[in-house]
Amino acid sequence: MKSDPADLKNTFARFVTGITIVSCQPEGQDVEPIGLTVNSFTSVSLNPPLVLWCIDKSSSVFDAFATSDNYAVTVLKSDQAALSGRFATPGQHGFEGLETETMVTGAPVLTERLAALDCRVEARHEAGDHMILIGRVVEIDYSDQAPLMYVGRSYMEGPVITEES
Ligand SMILES: Cc1cc2nc3c(=O)[nH]c(=O)nc-3n(C[C@H](O)[C@H](O)[C@H](O)COP(=O)(O)O)c2cc1C
Repeated sequence: MKSDPADLKNTFARFVTGITIVSCQPEGQDVEPIGLTVNSFTSVSLNPPLVLWCIDKSSSVFDAFATSDNYAVTVLKSDQAALSGRFATPGQHGFEGLETETMVTGAPVLTERLAALDCRVEARHEAGDHMILIGRVVEIDYSDQAPLMYVGRSYMEGPVITEES
């Protein structure tokens, strides 16, 4: 069976995802919020409302997310690929120059977005070289626009999503 990291990456690249910026507001005075480009985000449960994403243990922001009691998820729209690149740049995880707002927990979401979810961390699970962060959704927001999609290591424009979609 082919299962070395390169083959795994090639296999995962064939699975279409959206792109999110996951953020948290670390504890402490004068600590800036941080955000990370994430495509491991997925829905888990409707009742209770649960989602998850996975963080690489080698990430420069692993400790901040692993110890945070909450996180927020900004779902990007089709014209926001540059922001995906920005928050995926090693060591570059600040929101300087971007318009943000908070919902319930204090973790920031981008004002320009397709959708947003604010979450309290419900559980953390060790999973190989990643940690799974399960969140209970405490606030949501969505709009009728086109999502940013990611497949084959490329960004694509998705269809406009409406309530009737
Ligand atoms: C499309 C895309 C999806 C990504 N998804 C994740 C993810 O789900 N979890 C994660 O920990 N890192 C993910 N990353 C990597 C981080 O965004 C970031 O590039 C990496 O952590 C390097 O920054 P750092 O060295 O400061 O941690 C993704 C990167 C890209 C470009």
